[in-house]
This record gives sequence, structure tokens and C-alpha cells, in this order.
Amino acid sequence: MLAFRACLGQFATGVTVVTCSGADGHPCGITVNSFSSVSLEPPLVLWNIAKSSNSLRDFLNTKDFAIHILTDDQMELALQFAKSDHTLFENIEFRKSDADVPILPGCLAVFECSTHQVHDAGDHHIIVGHVDRFSWDRAGPLLFFSGHYRQMGEPTD
Ligand SMILES: Cc1cc2nc3c(=O)[nH]c(=O)nc-3n(C[C@H](O)[C@H](O)[C@H](O)COP(=O)(O)O)c2cc1C
Repeated sequence: MLAFRACLGQFATGVTVVTCSGADGHPCGITVNSFSSVSLEPPLVLWNIAKSSNSLRDFLNTKDFAIHILTDDQMELALQFAKSDHTLFENIEFRKSDADVPILPGCLAVFECSTHQVHDAGDHHIIVGHVDRFSWDRAGPLLFFSGHYRQMGEPTD
């Protein structure tokens, strides 16, 4: 299991924070690197949530969520939303979208989604989102590789 995890970690990814509003309206967020694009038409993306996550019920019970792709100067956000803590949004700047989803400022890209499908997959659920709105900015991405946060190097092509 540890070896499998280490082997999976050889796939370099970006880093996202996925947010939603919980049943009582409290903001929820979780650091996620399982984000992937799925379809252009209709516009679909996916991410996976562990069945053991404290945020599982909030994300399964909501229709709306937002995926934030982090810049290389947002590592503190990645560290914050990887904690198991219900005071995650303390001292974090955000606004609420029309769908009542917490939106974090200063991100590389934001996908505002509504849940399209949820698939049961081992110890995770795969959440497929329909992208209702998106925006992006120019900045370097925060990367995750082999258990470490990193910044992107120079282009090689
Ligand atoms: C770089 C990174 C990527 C992660 N990706 C995922 C992911 O794709 N899905 C997931 O459920 N948890 C992921 N996690 C773990 C969660 O961010 C969080 O640490 C964990 O869910 C514990 O908090 P919780 O029990 O309150 O959810 C990731 C953590 C890190 C640091």
C-alpha cells in the first residue's frame, strides 16, 4: 500500500482546492490533486474524494462546488485545506458565488461546477462536475510530485 502510494506519487500534478457550502451553510474546502479534465462537449471535469474524508457528506449532499487551481505562491492554501479541521476557513479570504459556493481569490483557474455524476470507486468516490462557469489568470502553477510541493521549471521545447 505504501509502495503503491509512492508509485502513484511519481505522476506530477497541479494542486487544487475544491470548495462547497455545507448543509448549514458553513464553507468547506479540501486540497485535491486528483483533478482531471473529462469532456469538452459537454464541459466535464472530475476529482476523487476519499470515503474517509470529513468533507464527504458535504460534497455528496451539495449540487454545487468549485475547483480552484493554485498558483505557485498559494502553497499555504494547499497546506491549510489538507488539514482535518472545521475551522479551515478562519483567516481565509473568500466570496460566495451565486450558487453559494466559497470562491478563493488569486487562483490560476476556477471551475464552478454542478454535480453531473458520482461513481463509487474503492475507497473513493469519483465526482464528475459539469462546468457552469470558468475563469483563469496568468501565473505559475503549484505542482505536487513525490510527496513535495514544487514550482515549474523553464519550458524544454
Ligand atoms: C497534494 C494533496 C493532494 C490530495 N488529493 C486528495 C484527493 O484527490 N482526494 C482526497 O479525498 N483527498 C486528497 N488529499 C487529502 C485531503 O486534502 C485531506 O488531507 C484529507 O482529506 C484529510 O482531511 P479530511 O478528513 O477533513 O477530509 C490530498 C492532500 C494533499 C496534500
